[in-house]
Amino acid sequence: MNHVVITGFMGAGKTTVGRLVATRLGREFIDLDAEIERREGLSVTALFRERGETGFRDVEHAALASLTEAPPAVIATGGGAVLREDNQLLLREIGTVVYLAVTPEEAIGRLGGAGDRPLLAGGGLAAARAILDARLSLYAATADRVVDTVGRTADEVADAVIAEVAEPAAAPTERVTVGTGSGVYEVLIGRGLLGDLSSHVTAATGARTVALVSDESVWGLAGDLAKAALERGGIAVSEHLVPDGEPSKSWEQAGMLLERFAASGLDRSSAVVALGGGVVGDLAGFCASVYMRGIPVVHVPTTLLAQVDSSIGGKTAVDLVAGKNLAGSFWPPALVLADIDVLRSLPDAEWINGLVEAAKAALLKGGEALDRFEARLGDLSDRDAGAVHGLVSDAVAFKAGVVSADLREADLRECLNFGHTLGHALEVLAGYGSLPHGLAVAEGMRFACALGERLGVTDAGVAGRVSALLDAIGAGADAWQSAAPDVRASFTPEAVLGAMRSDKKSRGGVVRFVLLERPGAWRALPVDDAVLLEELERWRMAGEEP
Ligand SMILES: NC(=O)c1ccc[n+]([C@@H]2O[C@H](COP(=O)([O-])OP(=O)(O)OC[C@H]3O[C@@H](n4cnc5c(N)ncnc54)[C@H](O)[C@@H]3O)[C@@H](O)[C@H]2O)c1
Repeated sequence: MNHVVITGFMGAGKTTVGRLVATRLGREFIDLDAEIERREGLSVTALFRERGETGFRDVEHAALASLTEAPPAVIATGGGAVLREDNQLLLREIGTVVYLAVTPEEAIGRLGGAGDRPLLAGGGLAAARAILDARLSLYAATADRVVDTVGRTADEVADAVIAEVAEPAAAPTERVTVGTGSGVYEVLIGRGLLGDLSSHVTAATGARTVALVSDESVWGLAGDLAKAALERGGIAVSEHLVPDGEPSKSWEQAGMLLERFAASGLDRSSAVVALGGGVVGDLAGFCASVYMRGIPVVHVPTTLLAQVDSSIGGKTAVDLVAGKNLAGSFWPPALVLADIDVLRSLPDAEWINGLVEAAKAALLKGGEALDRFEARLGDLSDRDAGAVHGLVSDAVAFKAGVVSADLREADLRECLNFGHTLGHALEVLAGYGSLPHGLAVAEGMRFACALGERLGVTDAGVAGRVSALLDAIGAGADAWQSAAPDVRASFTPEAVLGAMRSDKKSRGGVVRFVLLERPGAWRALPVDDAVLLEELERWRMAGEEP
């Protein structure tokens, strides 16, 4: 842990600068290519020739993974180490990644006689430009810090790297406590937490045998890291992968998982670790709640939505043919570990889903939490680690407060439905999974504000502030139009009302809406069908305006 990891294109000076930085920090210098050659007994060129690029990258990944246990060092990676998706997360988990930026012109100039490297295939500057163009976004996405090397000596670049890594440490791990009625559990929010998984799991559960449940995509990104981290602490791990997506939250999948827990020898002293988004969390939590009448579950949420929302509150569920989340349990986790570094690889659509839930929390909380959200908007669009840390901490603190005060969905938790009454109805009508959840909820929040204004509940100006916030996080009218241009026109007000009535959150067929009076103050109330039909018609017509 806590290595300084240097990435960059050929000619960026990774090895030279890495050695200088290591000497000045009094650390060992590790050249990843040299490490690979030592492990394999073959040169990098020979490895490429004999095993092809895929074979080489496998070896490179294994070499990198083996360094997770090494004492803090300075590691210079090969220029292509960022190409493999599973390396991108691993690099960030093992330390602070510093990208040394170089232009193709400067790189070719520095390489001099070596400018005929095999990768360039004799293509010189044009080839260097093309390769760097293709890799630039990967270097940027993987980097914690960027140091420009153009026009600087190696000494100057090393000074700049040291200044960057010596910056005050990232915000310390935040701890939020959630009440369960009979006890409490903690939500830890921070960076690099996955690397310390075993100590956290041991402290929270004492388990020496763990079922690690994940979906296929998340496993490809973080599975090896999580498993290695658990095993480092002497925990025996069985892996249980399910396909990505909502269909895995099924009764059949739960049954298969439970059989696999038993076949893996899990007993009452074992624990489940749910590594993934809300789907994995709900499914694994449900299985943990019924296996041997209940064993502990630790949530390691990997989507923003799961970190700010679904992993907190102890609700677990699987879907039935008759509807979503119709079978489930309340099973508070032993611990929630929200490692914000894992969010880096999240696709934009999933990122927006989470931001919408975080916006909902900020609007319901109001006050400084909402001011902070609005002030962070620029940094959030860059997924700046400090801003994300603050956002997740605020949203978790809000949800923890709500669910601690209302353990089993009596009254207070109803506020969490803000935006979901229309949002869920649209998702159901469109066919679950056809509409991005975040956009549907954002549309629902806008609709609730319009309805609230009409009923005299929502103060003037609130709808505008809500709409501006949703636009700024990428859940604006444009996003809605491109994701689901025909939705408003496709469903009659009667159909939407029907879907709202059959939602399990309606009471006796009467539709209830959570309305904001103003940020920080909300009210839930039944709304007459006639009013709803009129407002839905207005909403539908607004979609037809040019
Ligand atoms: N229990 C609750 O209180 C609660 C609350 C809200 C939502 N939910 C449930 O949560 C589910 C939705 O959760 P979700 O939005 O996290 O969806 P999800 O779990 O399906 O994840 C979305 C996608 O992102 C991928 N992914 C996850 N982490 C990633 C990462 N770090 N990098 C790249 N890709 C990654 C997943 O493989 C998946 O394909 C729904 O089933 C919903 O009912 C539960």
